[in-house]
Amino acid sequence: MDYKASTLELIGNTPLVKLNKLSQGIDALVLAKMESLNPGGSVKDRIGVSMINAAEREGRLKPGGTVVEATSGNTGIGLALVCAVRGYKAIFVMTDKCSVEKIRYLKAMGADVVVVPVSAKPDSPDHYVNTARRIAKETPSALLVFQYGNPENPEAHYRTTGPELWEQTAGRITHFVAGLGTGGTISGVGRYLKEKNPGVRIIGADPYGSVFKSFKETGRLLEATPYLVEGIGQEVIPENVHMKYVDEIINVTDRDAFQTARRLAREEGIFCGGSTGTIAWAALQLARGLNKDAVVIFIVCDTGERYLSKFHSDEWMKEKRMLGREKMTLGLLIQLKPSETTPALVSVLPTDIVTDALQLMNSHGLSQLPVLDQNNSVGSIREGRLMAKLLKNRDLLRAPVSEVMEKGFPVVQEDIGVETAMKHLKDSPAILIEEYGRIVGIVTRYDVLDVQP
Ligand SMILES: Cc1ncc(COP(=O)(O)O)c(C=O)c1O
Repeated sequence: MDYKASTLELIGNTPLVKLNKLSQGIDALVLAKMESLNPGGSVKDRIGVSMINAAEREGRLKPGGTVVEATSGNTGIGLALVCAVRGYKAIFVMTDKCSVEKIRYLKAMGADVVVVPVSAKPDSPDHYVNTARRIAKETPSALLVFQYGNPENPEAHYRTTGPELWEQTAGRITHFVAGLGTGGTISGVGRYLKEKNPGVRIIGADPYGSVFKSFKETGRLLEATPYLVEGIGQEVIPENVHMKYVDEIINVTDRDAFQTARRLAREEGIFCGGSTGTIAWAALQLARGLNKDAVVIFIVCDTGERYLSKFHSDEWMKEKRMLGREKMTLGLLIQLKPSETTPALVSVLPTDIVTDALQLMNSHGLSQLPVLDQNNSVGSIREGRLMAKLLKNRDLLRAPVSEVMEKGFPVVQEDIGVETAMKHLKDSPAILIEEYGRIVGIVTRYDVLDVQP
């Protein structure tokens, strides 16, 4: 029979996968280290088990004890796996920046989750690390794991991830790219690979707003500014960040990170989180300048399922103004228009009376109206031109719309992109959107100008 003694034995020995599409035009070999395939879905499973093993060995965690940790979610999941298998209680402190999926995941695994504001600064008692410290102090038989300074965190990567990368590439790895959250991955893997071959370049990927890049380059700690990617970047330098193993740090925007993560899903079948998007963007940027002998490996930190309510959703990306025109269809555009004030489509019949049509435009703040007859675009009313006609002849106020209407707005399919729609909008102030043979909405010049290029 062939089986594992517990789910913990599934941790590690993750495969490398070659990029084929995102790497087009790049001579170097670019490989993804699939940490998302760990049983808890992230790179943090490795440190979860190693930090608990050490605590058990050293007598800091006894049967029936409670594991407490400050986490952006993944370390919590890695620890929760061990707690489930070995019967410990778990309490995790997270900030309200973390996705709801991670919070629900931890609760589903039997852990208690305490959520604190992300705005709490490191010197505030409400900061997530300080809150975890307090809970650990107040809870009997509790262990504060503290991934930010726990030496078993980089050690796990020195013992497992580093040797795997060396063996999987038969010693041919030339560049390793990772993010820095606690610093465990980059410090542990970096140390191992540098010992094997000091020529291997270790590159960090850091969100704009985090302090690591400027700290590495100037030794000064600048004030952090907010960014949306989860799990990497910091406002202070954790003890587990060992800069001596890091050669260079590349800054990446939220937009590039999320768009790269979305492309990895759609073009490579690698469904990952935003930290992976950040790291992959930096790896590709770096690989563009390398020759065919280079072997660039980046870490796939966690799975995309954790972010379905965030950047893997078009609605969320549009809300954050990060969805490019090329991805934005007219269907999505009308779906996302604020609907409290104006319905998706306001129209009149050719037989309606002009004064009623004007009132309708007024009440919705519209400067044009489509005239529809049995689902056909038969005409339009445009405020400026109508006013000119009415100034000449007030009697038209009581005439049917058909007497004053202009040419109908063009009708286009809901799945066409905003870029194509813009061509129609050069000749017409608005276009009507058709879905399965029904006119369901209207898009104006103003609506498309609001979409990010
Ligand atoms: C999603 C995600 N990516 C990357 C990292 C960074 O890894 P490390 O803490 O080893 O620097 C973390 C760690 O918190 C994470 O949660």
